[in-house]
Amino acid sequence: MFDKPVKVLQIFLPLFALILCFSQVSCVVYPELVEKGLKSPKSERCGDCHRDIYAEWKESPHASSFINSAFREETNEYQFAFCIGCHAPETIFTSEKIEPRGVNREEGVNCSSCHLNDCKLSGPTPAHGPHPITEKNLFYRTSELCGKCHVGTFKTWQESGAAEGRKTCQDCHMPAIKRKLIQDDPWQKIYPKRDGKQHLFSSGTLFHGNENLLKLSFIQVTRSEGKIEGVLELENTGVPHSIPTGDYGYREVVVTVALLDKAGRIADLIRESLFVELKTALPYKGKKCIPFCFRRSENSFVIKATMVRTSFHKDRNVLLAETTRNL
Ligand code: HEC
Ligand code: HEC
Ligand code: HEC
Ligand code: HEC
Ligand code: HEC
Repeated sequence: MFDKPVKVLQIFLPLFALILCFSQVSCVVYPELVEKGLKSPKSERCGDCHRDIYAEWKESPHASSFINSAFREETNEYQFAFCIGCHAPETIFTSEKIEPRGVNREEGVNCSSCHLNDCKLSGPTPAHGPHPITEKNLFYRTSELCGKCHVGTFKTWQESGAAEGRKTCQDCHMPAIKRKLIQDDPWQKIYPKRDGKQHLFSSGTLFHGNENLLKLSFIQVTRSEGKIEGVLELENTGVPHSIPTGDYGYREVVVTVALLDKAGRIADLIRESLFVELKTALPYKGKKCIPFCFRRSENSFVIKATMVRTSFHKDRNVLLAETTRNL
């Protein structure tokens, strides 16, 4: 008995979608989503439909680029207007300086910052939706987009050469995923899965299965009476910018070589830091040698090297690479 209405719905929904897709009507359904200035929508609103992307972005550094404590301190509680453009922008699509948003600044680099382009929401996929869209905009697949704000990193990426085969920022910092662009019911049923990108903007996920981006190796290790000597060689084999990279904030990567005993306790340790400011960062294809010499005892068991991205207070640490050698 309920068969009929269900059938009607099954035909009606795709039909309605088709009408939406191919008519200009779609452009006026949600005009508030492309407002600028004081009416600029919150990203939460985008999250009503683009649930997965919203959840990823919310956890990303872009979502906290305005409220994070380092930014607050360095701008003396938002006194320097010049700084706000990149940290809470209205839109990156401007030929002049990026202007700060008038509202929702606490959202930092939000959805509109990157997607509001000339009164439409633009993106790289062949999407059709209920709000104004510029589809197949391939600028989104280029590093230039990120370079609007990541000026220094973009410059070193450009200089890294190998132009054609070179990976873009998105290839590494926005992992590919096949999924629907929206997750809300029931509308998502009529949209196909597309080649999308996770909005993580982090490097944390890069090291699973991608070990050859950074290489740590022990060379010339010798054991003599009471001594273990050798050299740790670091090589940036695959990251087309320096490690660490960036123009602002605190940028330190700590390299350690430790001598461990059988119980895994540290018997001896050396440490060296790589900084952007001090020009000790490891450039693309660059190598660096760190010699070490430890006193050896009965208990000496293994040498272990790590490379860790750290924060000013040493409270946020990301392991970038590690290696061990048994003695
Ligand atoms: C509108 C300016 C802007 C654009 C465009 C932009 N970013 Fe960012 N990005 C920032 C700001 C500001 C931060 C600092 C956030 C923080 O740590 O508080 C940041 C942080 C990051 C970080 C984390 C850095 C760290 O120290 O952990 C990564 C990775 C990143 N962005 C990647 C990208 C990629 C990839 C793109 C292009 C798809 C991009 N960004 C586009 C402004 C931008
Ligand atoms: C009412 C639900 C809804 C809301 C709210 C919404 N969107 Fe969409 N959006 C869609 C649908 C549906 C599509 C098309 C999906 C498809 O074709 O696979 C779409 C497509 C897009 C695209 C096109 C991607 C491309 O590659 O062409 C972008 C970009 C986008 N939305 C961004 C946003 C932003 C930013 C917001 C918030 C300001 C937002 N959307 C709010 C439903 C919504
Ligand atoms: C081949 C993969 C790859 C590509 C391409 C790439 N990155 Fe990275 N990026 C990494 C890795 C791995 C790290 C982690 C090392 C680190 O944190 O210093 C990183 C770190 C970063 C950081 C954090 C800085 C820091 O010191 O932690 C930023 C910001 C960044 N990348 C931006 C970019 C931008 C912008 C582009 C494009 C111009 C880009 N990346 C291209 C792999 C890549
Ligand atoms: C820092 C810039 C930036 C921010 C912030 C951002 N995006 Fe994107 N977005 C991109 C880029 C770049 C792509 C295309 C990546 C590619 O295809 O290589 C993209 C792709 C998309 C797409 C097309 C499908 C896909 O997954 O590739 C949609 C839809 C979308 N974004 C919605 C959103 C929404 C919603 C938000 C806020 C929750 C958001 N974006 C925040 C840069 C951004
Ligand atoms: C051209 C765009 C741009 C401008 C202008 C800008 N920033 Fe940033 N800021 C970034 C980007 C991109 C990052 C991410 C790391 C990097 O590449 O340096 C960042 C990161 C930071 C961080 C690190 C946040 C963290 O989580 O560790 C601080 C602090 C910061 N900026 C302060 C400032 C101050 C202060 C000003 C003004 C003097 C300023 N920024 C102006 C783009 C900008």
